[in-house]
Amino acid sequence: MKIGVIGTGYVGLVTAVGLADLGHDVIGTDVVAEKIELASKGKSHIYEPGLENLLQANLKKGNLSFSVDLDKAIRISDVLFVCVNTPPRDDGSADMSYVEGVSRRIAENLDDYKLVVEKSTVPVKTSSWIKRTISLYRKKNVDFDVASNPEFLREGTAVHDFLNPDRVIIGVETDKARELMLKIYAKFNDKILVTNIETAEVIKHASNSFLAMKISFINLISDLCEKTDADIEQVAKGMGHDPRIGSQFLRAGLGYGGSCFPKDVRALIKIGEDLGIDFNLLKQVDLINIKRTNVFIEKVRKALWILKEKKIAILGLSFKPQTDDIRNAPSIKIIENLLCEGAVLNLYDPQAMDNMKEIFPEDPPRINYMNSAYDAVNGVNATLIVTEWDEFKEIDLGELKRIMANPIIVDGRNIFKPDIVKESGFEYYSIGR
Ligand code: NAD
Ligand code: UGA
Repeated sequence: MKIGVIGTGYVGLVTAVGLADLGHDVIGTDVVAEKIELASKGKSHIYEPGLENLLQANLKKGNLSFSVDLDKAIRISDVLFVCVNTPPRDDGSADMSYVEGVSRRIAENLDDYKLVVEKSTVPVKTSSWIKRTISLYRKKNVDFDVASNPEFLREGTAVHDFLNPDRVIIGVETDKARELMLKIYAKFNDKILVTNIETAEVIKHASNSFLAMKISFINLISDLCEKTDADIEQVAKGMGHDPRIGSQFLRAGLGYGGSCFPKDVRALIKIGEDLGIDFNLLKQVDLINIKRTNVFIEKVRKALWILKEKKIAILGLSFKPQTDDIRNAPSIKIIENLLCEGAVLNLYDPQAMDNMKEIFPEDPPRINYMNSAYDAVNGVNATLIVTEWDEFKEIDLGELKRIMANPIIVDGRNIFKPDIVKESGFEYYSIGR
């Protein structure tokens, strides 16, 4: 069985490498030639721990290749994993034009049975549109199936997540598609849940929205804690011990960012709207999340009063640690706000600075990209913790205090213990405690 992976972005590249590692013969393809050139040479265009090693190992084994030739990739593959982007439109709905474009190309190249697998996150009923599109545009009356196989990997732990899934959801409507999918994921036999296609599509949107809801809930509770001498870390721990609640995704902070939670919550609201279902619950989840960066900026104001001309270090730019991804990163809104108020910024992130330079180019003396966390905090009036990279957790507080102009830390991720930071001589602002 030959598998084609269409779109080798954050999900597609991991999927191509992961499927090859499961022993399949895989070809990855993308419209961006640079991504394909790099992948062919064993280089990843994204920072994702473990990905490059696995990519190189599978290229060496000879069962993984990459090509910009989409038509060829379609023709030589029996199964096609569609991993293209489904970005948000202004009204919140997912832009399905990339999926439609790929469906048409599949139709034009359909010369033998193919199974088309939706790996991208798509609105429920998308499979019907893919089927209709392929049927309308195919040149030969050849049989095909569509399946849904939503992806649950997290950036930063994507390789581990792909190879150690909690569950593999397979949405199918024919025995042939079911057999092929079960064969592909045979190694995860005990983790597989087979459903109809619509159920699989809904599982993905419902899962992301539920996790986003947990985060907005705990963030709202953190506001309550702050006004009442309760401690959000203890509250989350106390709640999380109940297995019905679970301890994960109860970290209060700057709200959820990334390319998926914000977009998928809004997409589900829109799907509901179109079907006459009011997802007011999710509208609030979204609103609470939008306000998190304002809450944080208020803390910075409380610490520094006037922000004009204040020198501020921002530690962490990526939307979460272990990735270079800055899509919907809270850092972007924070930087925008602080620049608007005339602050001078020293920015540092272990992986995401090149990406951030495309939004905020280096512009001394107002916007400075620094080589290390220590360089960034040197001489500043306050340090802001925006992403919880391990290297910030391990920072030497004594040295920090020595080199900062004023010992003020505003921590949006609660990476320090308040007692310890205060004992080290800092004024310390954190979330919900
Ligand atoms: P991405 O933008 O990193 O990757 C999409 C890739 O598709 C890009 O490289 C783009 O060039 C390519 N592409 C677009 N049109 C193409 C075409 N016609 N032919 C070939 N390639 C084409 O996006 P992503 O983060 O990988 O997300 C992809 C999908 O997976 C989205 O629907 C997303 O919601 C979903 N998803 C993402 C994650 C994640 O952690 N990023 C996790 C689970 C699901
Ligand atoms: C998320 C889901 O966890 C994946 O299962 C899913 O496949 C993916 O979205 C997707 O569909 O794209 P990801 O966005 O990579 O993965 O990262 P998460 O670890 O889920 O974090 C998302 C955001 O929530 C980050 O900004 C993070 O800082 C924030 N977060 C997470 C919190 O604020 N608190 C928490 O307790 C957990």
